[in-house]
Amino acid sequence: MRLHRVHNKKEKMKKVVVLGIESTAHTFGVGIASSTGEILANENHTYVPKTGGIHPREAAEHHSKVAASLVKSALEKSGLKLKEIDGVAVALGPGMGPCLRVGATVARALSLASRKPLIGVNHAVAHLEIARLSTGFDDPLFIYVAGGNTMITTFSEGKYRVFGETLDIPLGNCLDTFAREVGLGHPGVPKVEKLASKGKHYHILPYTVKGQDMSYSGLLTAALRLYREGVPLEDVCLSLVENAYSMLTEVAERALAHTRKTQLVITGGVARSRLLCKKLELMATSRGVNFRPVKPEYAGDNGAMIAYTGALALASNVITPLEESAIKPLWRLDEVEIPWRTKKEK
Ligand code: FE2
Repeated sequence: MRLHRVHNKKEKMKKVVVLGIESTAHTFGVGIASSTGEILANENHTYVPKTGGIHPREAAEHHSKVAASLVKSALEKSGLKLKEIDGVAVALGPGMGPCLRVGATVARALSLASRKPLIGVNHAVAHLEIARLSTGFDDPLFIYVAGGNTMITTFSEGKYRVFGETLDIPLGNCLDTFAREVGLGHPGVPKVEKLASKGKHYHILPYTVKGQDMSYSGLLTAALRLYREGVPLEDVCLSLVENAYSMLTEVAERALAHTRKTQLVITGGVARSRLLCKKLELMATSRGVNFRPVKPEYAGDNGAMIAYTGALALASNVITPLEESAIKPLWRLDEVEIPWRTKKEK
């Protein structure tokens, strides 16, 4: 599947309003936003598994149940009717197949019913664009950290380029799994951090940075082993977050040195972590770099970020023909062309 770009002779950016649907993982979200950055609605509902991690089929069932009412309430919040929307955006990937299929089906139906174009949005690109909008930074280096992703990226020559990523499990997944295994429950990150703040002794754990990439699975296994050996949970949490966050900060610092960007942003669910933000801010300040986290309401998965990114794409005449709107569970960020930034090269 390729995003089609319809060339318009004048190549003028226009203001459009788009309804966007997010369903890549445990959240079903519907947002309405304009290409000039007005967020008119952001209605989201998250499936919380009774035990264990996200079960894709159960999450998809949740999404099918809440979809209609969230579309309705988003339209009500925005004060717009479906026919007044210029396009329907949907996150086609990356994500879990059964979950993505629900969002794509709803979006195709809305596009057909309203006779407005469909815009396939890459979920990772959406996390970056909403971060640019919410921080006001126009050309930052991004740290994108969530339950499903960990990467350092920035815009260069038409695309978001990856300057480092996890080689195995994402940072958010590492902390969430640890929290679940030791009985802290969900959401894991704030609970692990709270205990870490009471820790007194640091225990050596694997610190794995290979080139610009990070590995978190060995760290998770070793932290669980420490806990099972009887090391106080507070100390294990302290050692775990210290290693996990320092690895990320080290890679971000090298990427800043390489790219010479003067703005640093953190986006994704783990952007709500105060401890990680503090570490990143210290590093950024010491380099004369400005640091800002994405606003908390746009940190986790949400419909507004898909709507806004879809609006940017539509304003640059990017649409996705219905017959080419298949989901892309493994869609990489660096495959996506970003015409709305290419013109200005920023
Ligand atoms: Fe996400």
